[in-house]
Amino acid sequence: MKIVSGSASTGLAEKISEELGVELLPMERKQFPDGEIYVRFKESVENERVIIVQSTCKPPNDNYIELFLMLDAARDLGAEKVEVVIPYFGYARQDKRFKDGEAVSLETISTLLESSGADEVYTVDYHPKGMGKDPEVFDIPAHNLTAAGLLASYVDENFDLKNPLVMGPDAGAESWAEKAGDSIDSEWNYMLKERLSSEEVEISLPDVDVEGRDVILVDDIISTGGTMCEAIRLLKDARARDVYACCTHPVLSGDALESIAMAGALEVIGTDTIDSDVSEVSVAPIIAEEVEK
Ligand code: R5P
Repeated sequence: MKIVSGSASTGLAEKISEELGVELLPMERKQFPDGEIYVRFKESVENERVIIVQSTCKPPNDNYIELFLMLDAARDLGAEKVEVVIPYFGYARQDKRFKDGEAVSLETISTLLESSGADEVYTVDYHPKGMGKDPEVFDIPAHNLTAAGLLASYVDENFDLKNPLVMGPDAGAESWAEKAGDSIDSEWNYMLKERLSSEEVEISLPDVDVEGRDVILVDDIISTGGTMCEAIRLLKDARARDVYACCTHPVLSGDALESIAMAGALEVIGTDTIDSDVSEVSVAPIIAEEVEK
């Protein structure tokens, strides 16, 4: 087995190769002045099981093209099997035609991945299906892992929590809250959210006493931070003690981090599916465990 990284996931790929005790293949990657992308495997992949690690976070189009080039080259260079780890799966949110005439982007991307040579896909907290459900859009084996337990354990181990409560900021985060809560033997619950615009949401608290308690908020993505900010404000108004805003994918558009801090979160914690200032938790152990199965 050989691990190789796209340019969006160099740190994570190194950690995965350390976890597995296998070689991280050197790769040449560059972008030409006109924006075109170049990749070259610097060592042979002939007859190897090759695992390519590439998040398709910002800039998603460049990261996808780089990934397609790597997949096709690995296959063409004689790799026996080519698997792809896409820790953050760009375009997964456009998984259906919400309005007439729209492209179903996720289907296009999955077709391109398969036709570029992917034999198997791994991702983490894949948006469309929710936790623990494998993507159905592929004709090849596809696995959806979750970082919910890792995030809760990180907060539990690194902070002195008082009567903790794990909370999802919306009904879609119920499964994350359950998994995170169970992993640290904590009570868990979730809020109800109505989206008013791409940046504005209205959230209501369930009937649970949060006064004086530390709350771990868990979600798959923090993008604009609108969801987390509203959830934190509600918890603070209900006299929660410290609030930890955790997510698998720290997309962090614009001034999301500042807004969340202003809303009153003690800490913002994400994973390294996307490399960011808050990527404290590595998903390398769960990926290594899954590819070794
Ligand atoms: C929504 O269904 C997702 O689980 C997240 O809650 C959402 O993507 C967060 O977006 P934002 O940070 O922009 O509110």
